Amino acid sequence: MTPQQDVDLAPFNTLALPGRAARYLAITAPGQLAATELAGSRRFVLGGGSNLVLTGDFDGLVLHMALQGKRLVKEDSEAYYIEAGAGESWPDFVQWTLRQGWPGLENLSLIPGTVGAAPIQNIGAYGLEVSERFHSLSAWDFKNRVLIDLDREACRFAYRDSLFKQQGWHLNGQLAIVSVVFRLPKAWTPILRYADLAQEFAARQSAAPTPLAIAAAVVAVRRRKLPDPAQTPNAGSFFHNPVVDAAGADALASRHPTLPRYLQPDGRYKLAAGWLIEQAGWKGKKLGPVGMYEKQALVLVNHGGATGTDVKRTMAAVQSDVKAAFAVELTPEPIFL
Ligand code: EPU
Repeated sequence: MTPQQDVDLAPFNTLALPGRAARYLAITAPGQLAATELAGSRRFVLGGGSNLVLTGDFDGLVLHMALQGKRLVKEDSEAYYIEAGAGESWPDFVQWTLRQGWPGLENLSLIPGTVGAAPIQNIGAYGLEVSERFHSLSAWDFKNRVLIDLDREACRFAYRDSLFKQQGWHLNGQLAIVSVVFRLPKAWTPILRYADLAQEFAARQSAAPTPLAIAAAVVAVRRRKLPDPAQTPNAGSFFHNPVVDAAGADALASRHPTLPRYLQPDGRYKLAAGWLIEQAGWKGKKLGPVGMYEKQALVLVNHGGATGTDVKRTMAAVQSDVKAAFAVELTPEPIFL
C-alpha cells in the first residue's frame, strides 16, 4: 500500500485541468485508511473530480476513493435503506436503484460524480436534493483515527452545502466518507414541479410519470442543456444561485421585469445565476480558453488547454460583470485545490 509518486491529475478532474499530486493512492478497501502513514500527511480526498478546480500541483497525498459495493441493508414498512460505497459512480447507482424497483433518486439521474461526494455539496436537481433521500454515512476521521457515523441532522445540509464544507473538513482532508445509506420511501410520489421537467412530460404526452420515465426525462433535459464532460470539460454549474432578501429581489425585479426569482422558505429569494450571467453578456463568451457554455451560461467550460489560472481569470471577469450589472455577488460552487 505504497502511494505512487508524482501522478498526473488531469484525467481525474472533469474540467481536465493540469496538475500533479506529489503522492497518490487509490483506496479500494476501508482498512487502508487506518494506515498510520496516511495520518500525518497533507491530504486531499478525491471522488469523481466533477466539482473541482485544480489550481496547480498538489504537494501532498491524494486519496482517490474507489470503494465499491451496493446493497439493501434494511427494509421496514415505510422505506428501503440502501448502502453504497463512496467510490460508486453516482449516475450508475441511481440507475441501479431504479432497476431494483427502489424509486426515489430518479430526479438526480446523470449527475456526474461519486456516491461519497454527493452529500458533501448536497447535490440537487429538478426539485430534489440528495439530503431528502439521505439516511446516514460512515466516514474515517483521520485525526481521531476512528470510523464515525453521521445521521441526516448531524450533516447540517443546506442548498449545495453541508457540515463537510462548513467545517472545511473536506478540503483539509480531515474526513473521508466511506459509505452512504439512502432512505427511499415506499410511498413514492413523482416530483415534477420543475418547469423543464414538467415541459418534457407535456411533450411526451403518452409517458406516464413512472420513476423510469422521470429518469429518462431528466436525462433528456440534461443532455440538451448541459455539456458532456467527456467532450467539453466542465464542472457543472460553476456558481451557486444567489439568495437575496425580498427587498433586494424586488428592487432588481422592478428594473428587470423578466428576472427569474424563486421564493425560499425563509422569505428570501433565490435568483438564477445563469440568467444574470447571460444578461451580463457571458453566454457563449470566452476569455482565453475558458468560457461560459453557449446553452447554459452557468456552466464554465474548458475549450482546450486551460489551466487553473485561466479558470480563475474567467471566473473573476464573470463575477465582476455580474456585480457591475446587478450588484449581486456570485460565489463559485466547486472546490479549489
Ligand atoms: N437561465 C438563463 N440563461 C442561462 C441559464 C439559465 O436565462 O444561460 C435561466 C433559465 O431560463 C431559468 C433559470 O435561469 O429561468 C434557471 O435555469 P435552469 O433551470 O437551467 O437551472 P439552474 O438554476 O441554472 C440549477 C442547478 C443545476 C441543476 C438545475 C436543474 C445550481 C447552482 N444549479 O441550475 O445543478 O441541474 O438547477 O435543477 O443550483 C450543478 O449544481 O452542477 C447543476 C448542474
